Amino acid sequence: MAGQVDALFWFMFSVSALICLGVFGAMLVFVVRYQRRPGNEVAQRLGPTTRLELSWTLIPLGLALVPFVWGAKLYLDMARPPDDALEIYIVAKQWMWKAQHPEGQSEIDELHIPVGRPVKLTMISQDVIHSFYVPEFRIKADLLPDRYTTTWFEATRPGEYHLFCAEYCGTGHSRMTGRVIALGPAEYAAWLQGGPTLSPADQGRRLFQQLGCAACHETGLAPNLQGLFGQPVTLTTGQTVTADETYIRESILDPGAKIVAGYQPIMPSFAGRVNDEQLLQLIAYIKSIGPQPGGQPSGGPPPPGPALTPLPTPAATGGQAP
Ligand code: CUA
Repeated sequence: MAGQVDALFWFMFSVSALICLGVFGAMLVFVVRYQRRPGNEVAQRLGPTTRLELSWTLIPLGLALVPFVWGAKLYLDMARPPDDALEIYIVAKQWMWKAQHPEGQSEIDELHIPVGRPVKLTMISQDVIHSFYVPEFRIKADLLPDRYTTTWFEATRPGEYHLFCAEYCGTGHSRMTGRVIALGPAEYAAWLQGGPTLSPADQGRRLFQQLGCAACHETGLAPNLQGLFGQPVTLTTGQTVTADETYIRESILDPGAKIVAGYQPIMPSFAGRVNDEQLLQLIAYIKSIGPQPGGQPSGGPPPPGPALTPLPTPAATGGQAP
């Protein structure tokens, strides 16, 4: 991706340089050639110049559209992480970077990644806006409070790369730096061996039990969460939303904000009871439990029956063992 960003940059730089040279070159030539001389004091009026005007309009228009289309394509590629990307969670706070790997390892101000594999970062800030910036990968993405953002990259060479915070975030902003360490496949596997083994999804499942979520979400009192992630959800307002990271986070911290059609607003808020790392673990757990083969995506209306009757959903009776 870095090569493509550079190619676009150099294309725009070269075109700008050529136009600049053309304009200043023509200016110098005209100054000398058409200067005021005795006997040639007044400029002459030329005939219709439609072709000239069309050419100086259409050629620059074409030139400007090339980087527009090229840049839009590149932007879309950068905005959409590949499906097989390794997903790492990043929580930023004043003034450090915390990374949580899917295999269980977590680290601060360092990010170990494998070479030759796309890495997707799902990121959030615990306080103010920060920005994850690795110049060598040509990526920069803001981290916001209360909203997940993503970016992705693929390291092509093993090595250490600078990580900066690119958004002024307080006194320690300039020291909010880190290292991205790209390892070969074998070294990365060895590095993974060294850490704790409980994955974020497993930690989330534990938390799900500890907080008593299952008492409603696995009995039909509240929407079943199996296969929910990424699915459309119909709300009591008739509105449809996608069950993404930000939606799930909001539903945990502010359950009354969006009520799923067919359910009562009975869920208490967990704001202050779970921190950002734990929220990401819960989200990782919910991502890990779907979609269920053959099962209906949950989040839609519950099975027929009074909404408050603890009616096991098909998923709950299907031997689901969290
Ligand atoms: Cu974080 Cu600047």
